[in-house]
Amino acid sequence: MANVVVVGLQWGDEAKGKVVDYLSQDADVVVRYNGGNNAGHTVVLGNDEIYKFHIVPAGILNPSITSVIADGVVIDPAVLVEEFGRLQSHGVSLDRLKISGNAHVIMPYHKMLDRLEEESKGAKKIGTTGRGIGPAYADKISRVGIRVSELIDMDQFSTRLSDCLKRKNAILTKIYGAEPLDEAEVFAEYKGLGEAITPYVTDTALFLHKAARENKKIVFEGAHGTLLDIDHGTYPYVTSSHTVAGGACIGTGIGPTLISNVIGVAKAYTTRVGEGWFPTELLDETGDYIRERGREYGTTTGRPRRCGWFDAVAVRLSARLSAVRCIAFISLDVLSGLDKLRVCSAYRVNGGIIRDFPSDAAVLRECTPVYDELPGWKEDISGATSLDDLPANARDYLTHAAEVVGYPIAIASVGRRREQTLVIRPDLLES
Ligand code: IMP
Repeated sequence: MANVVVVGLQWGDEAKGKVVDYLSQDADVVVRYNGGNNAGHTVVLGNDEIYKFHIVPAGILNPSITSVIADGVVIDPAVLVEEFGRLQSHGVSLDRLKISGNAHVIMPYHKMLDRLEEESKGAKKIGTTGRGIGPAYADKISRVGIRVSELIDMDQFSTRLSDCLKRKNAILTKIYGAEPLDEAEVFAEYKGLGEAITPYVTDTALFLHKAARENKKIVFEGAHGTLLDIDHGTYPYVTSSHTVAGGACIGTGIGPTLISNVIGVAKAYTTRVGEGWFPTELLDETGDYIRERGREYGTTTGRPRRCGWFDAVAVRLSARLSAVRCIAFISLDVLSGLDKLRVCSAYRVNGGIIRDFPSDAAVLRECTPVYDELPGWKEDISGATSLDDLPANARDYLTHAAEVVGYPIAIASVGRRREQTLVIRPDLLES
């Protein structure tokens, strides 16, 4: 088997798109299996052309790859169709795109409810992306969601929309005092969107199963980061999907024994968007330095990301949850120029030291980081092509991070472009 799942090991934005792009060079299929357009991947190709993806897998750029949007994704059809237009205007063909009929549709009321629920929470808000993700997944779990297969069948869609709008308009008007949605308007808009999506809709689970059995190389492109997982993340400050590697099975219909490798992606520091605990957060000029050098602003929302030191305790938890074989260590170049670097190797809590990320949010709230301090480096390392090109302090930082996390680093990235990738352990990338 030649499958690999790529997951983020922090709170999202680990540059998984770059790793997926790198691993996809000889892939047959690239799959998105969770989340929706709350995620954003930026891929920079050799000519500095920047592609921003929100729903379509980054593999679409490679004409020999089939790109799949699988069952576990929630799709905002307006955003998807806009993304189609952008890709086509760059000459990217959509011929090899497949969309699961089981994926759920983000409806206008999901986006409205996302914002209204956040507003009503006041200081206790999650800081969501406002894209309707939580309400769409809530409807799916409550068995009242609308699936892509229903969206593209106008008779079914008309009945489902009518039923759903009765309940949602009651909530919008009676609980939140908002304006109701007009059924005819929503139907007209979604009818057109459904038609644009129809040619791509198929049984993706069957397609993927056959591809796996035929030993095709499949790259499963995880969205967000493990610490945002609905079950295992820092609840309630999480997203609403399964971001651990197991989510690739849940979100595609591919069983665990058909997965052969898992690669975790972590930045050389930590970022987080939205609310929630972040023990190593830097609220000083070092945090600003990292944000500006790393261009740490959301791909999807443009929000400035909160920045902090590398948290090995958090990454260790994520690596364990996804049973990764190795780590891709990203954005090492961003740390150039800092005198001293810190790696959080444990937490101090209730007078003691713990090395495992606490599962109890009440304990996590009280944790403060225990840091190992390392000397920084001044050199620009963005032109490095092998480990030997790195200054000794950069190599030591990388080695230390791997040791403290307890998993090997197979890739180090020193810039956004594909060629700024140092492959340290190619054997661990094999599927
Ligand atoms: P939602 O996914 O829009 O419901 O937002 C829930 C939480 O997950 C918020 O804190 C978001 O900022 C965060 N989040 C969702 N997607 C991403 C992502 O791709 N990167 C970073 N944070 C994300």
